[in-house]
Amino acid sequence: MSHYTIQPGTNIGGTVNISGSKNSSLPILAAALLADGNNILSNIPNLSDTRNMCELLSLAGANIVNDNGTLHINSRNLTDKKLPLELVNKLRASFLIIAPLLAKCGKVRIPLPGGCQIGARPIDLHLKGFSAMGAKIKQGHGYVELKCNKLQPAKIYLDFPSVGATENLMTAASMTEGETIIENAAGEPEIVDLSSFLCEMGAEIIGAGTDTIKIIGNKNLKSTQHTVIPDRIEAGTFMAISAITKSNLTINNVIPDHLKPVTAKLNEMGFTINENANSIEIVPCEKFKTVDIKTLPYPGFPTDMQSQFMSLMSVADGTGVVIETVFENRFLHVPELLRMGAKIKIDGRTAVIDGIKKLSGAKVRATDLRAGAALVIAALGAQGETEIDEIEHIERGYEDFEKKLTSIGVSIKKEI
Ligand code: EPZ
Repeated sequence: MSHYTIQPGTNIGGTVNISGSKNSSLPILAAALLADGNNILSNIPNLSDTRNMCELLSLAGANIVNDNGTLHINSRNLTDKKLPLELVNKLRASFLIIAPLLAKCGKVRIPLPGGCQIGARPIDLHLKGFSAMGAKIKQGHGYVELKCNKLQPAKIYLDFPSVGATENLMTAASMTEGETIIENAAGEPEIVDLSSFLCEMGAEIIGAGTDTIKIIGNKNLKSTQHTVIPDRIEAGTFMAISAITKSNLTINNVIPDHLKPVTAKLNEMGFTINENANSIEIVPCEKFKTVDIKTLPYPGFPTDMQSQFMSLMSVADGTGVVIETVFENRFLHVPELLRMGAKIKIDGRTAVIDGIKKLSGAKVRATDLRAGAALVIAALGAQGETEIDEIEHIERGYEDFEKKLTSIGVSIKKEI
């Protein structure tokens, strides 16, 4: 496993350009299988997650050419071959391939999800929706098989506004003749981006971004071109880096509207945030107050920014409370922050953080993607050197992370 060695962030500043959204790219890559022709996708970040998704699409029969970051995806001859366990286990978003394979080939066999660090992450809501659309579902030997010659439009109520279930069902419904309605749908910006892509291919979708989405499917979707939205979580992570290092950072290629809950919390802490059309500038403040955070589906505070803010709260003035309502086990960064001197107590899904003056650099381990990002933030706000092990988790979701950090003045060394 590789590791980062990071010094305290003393002379950070300048400009950083945000990459395309990982969580928008993954459902759009899967949905590209729906159209026979050549889909051209731009601003897809070069990450292990997106590379694994492309490997999965190729295994399903797609032909993918990467023209310097622009992906050309041709899905003329899809197959319903059994998808490999090791690949699906590496990439949680593999389940998004169910929709196009079921809609186009009428059959898909995929390994059931193994757990992951942050929670069980079942796919029961996905399967309930596909069953409502007429799919016959069989589970056994660690696999789930879905079969249906012709998906039917349906009215689906999601018990929880699951991002993945909303994306999977919206994608399948885009190729299902008739009107499908998804109620209690997720409303994240990535859902809206996927909806734009599906409409560009010929589906008719009303209400993406709200809790009720109507999809009128089209049997003959056409290939198209699409540029993926910027990654709001990468942008939020750099906002937290700017805040903890009390530096003046301009973050380019963002949609400020997607960062409202993060900006609101930083304002509450005492930071001034200047927004332009597609950039955000953080004006530092010497002493900043702590806040209380409760993670919620969009437009609430994003669970994917919870660990990064906990690092910031660890050195803020006062006592703050974090309640994680989305995942059942998303405090794995806490033991690592405690090793750096943070004062945090956990009780179930609630953490109480007593801000201290300075964290102290230590040898720590990235347990998952956003927990790892939180440790980079903590290292920049600490006294003394920090070594972060297992950084493969971090590099799953942050394109050219080490290069971007170096470009804003971070002293970071990567060792394999
Ligand atoms: C997406 O995961 C994101 N991943 C996650 O980002 C993000 O944390 C999550 O949405 C919530 O915003 C991608 O988009 C690739 P969910 P997803 O289905 O779709 C439960 C990151 O760091 N649930 O909204 O898997 C589930 O267990 C990643 O970039 C069911 O119970 O999230 C969880 O507790 C981490 N049954 C909650 O819903 C289901 O069938 C939210 O899951 C589906 C989900």
